[in-house]
Parts: sequence; structure tokens; C-alpha cells
Amino acid sequence: MSGQELWTVDEAEQIIRRHAGRKGALLPILNALQAAFGHVPGGVVPIVAEALNLSRAEVHGVVTFYHDLKTAPDDRPVVKLCRAEACQARGVGRIAPLLEADERIHVETVYCLGLCASGPAAMVGEAVFGRLDDAGARQLIDATAREAVR
Ligand code: FES
Repeated sequence: MSGQELWTVDEAEQIIRRHAGRKGALLPILNALQAAFGHVPGGVVPIVAEALNLSRAEVHGVVTFYHDLKTAPDDRPVVKLCRAEACQARGVGRIAPLLEADERIHVETVYCLGLCASGPAAMVGEAVFGRLDDAGARQLIDATAREAVR
């Protein structure tokens, strides 16, 4: 991706207005901004801060604290890893560090992919994967990283 920012103040303000009235609006706003722009651009921090009557430092602190919020565009392929209860019981905690340690991919946490009986489960694009053990997780990482290079 080029260094060009793919967002506008108008769009950001519209998104902020949609959530600003509610209690605990900061995280929903940041998530909505990320959903719209692919990351939380640094330039939106003062806009969010002003809308919610917070300091820039407070907003920036939340952006950098939450692992799922990105401060820059991330072009790596995404592996959605289920960490809901059934997949927890089936050992997602064992394979998650393998996926998270590989910098060729980006791991997003999701809660249930509908494969509860076949967990641990993950999704890449439209494809779902179940019964992931260490070897399966490594294959998934390699295949995902390879596809992204093509
Ligand atoms: S709990 Fe993981 S797929 Fe349902």
C-alpha cells in the first residue's frame, strides 16, 4: 500500500457521531474507524478526543493498548482464530502462540466459526480449518503466507 492516507475527516466525523452519544463510546468508535479505514489513523486521535472530551493521550493510550487495533495499514494475510469456549477446550491456547509468533500473517481473534465440534478452528478468507494441532497450524501459516506472496 502507498503511504497515502485512505480516510477523510468527514468520514471519521460521521462514524464518531454515530456512536458518540452512548456510554463507553470510545472502543466502539475506534473499532468502527478501523473497520472503515483498515486501521486507526493517527490523525483521527485528536478528532475522537475532542468529540468525547478526552485528552489525546487517553485516546492514544487506548489505541495502543488494544492488540486488535492497528495504527498503520497491515497488508499481511489475516488468520481468524476462534477463541470461544469450545475451541478453548479443544486446545486453541496451545496453537495460538505458533500463529501469533509468525510475522508473515496477522492473527485476529473471533468468537465461534460454527465449527465447535471440530476445534480448534480458524478461517482464512472464505476457507475454514478445523482440528488444528501444531502441525496443522504450521501448514496453515505456511500456506497462508505463500498465498499472500502470489
Ligand atoms: S467455539 Fe470455536 S468454532 Fe465454535
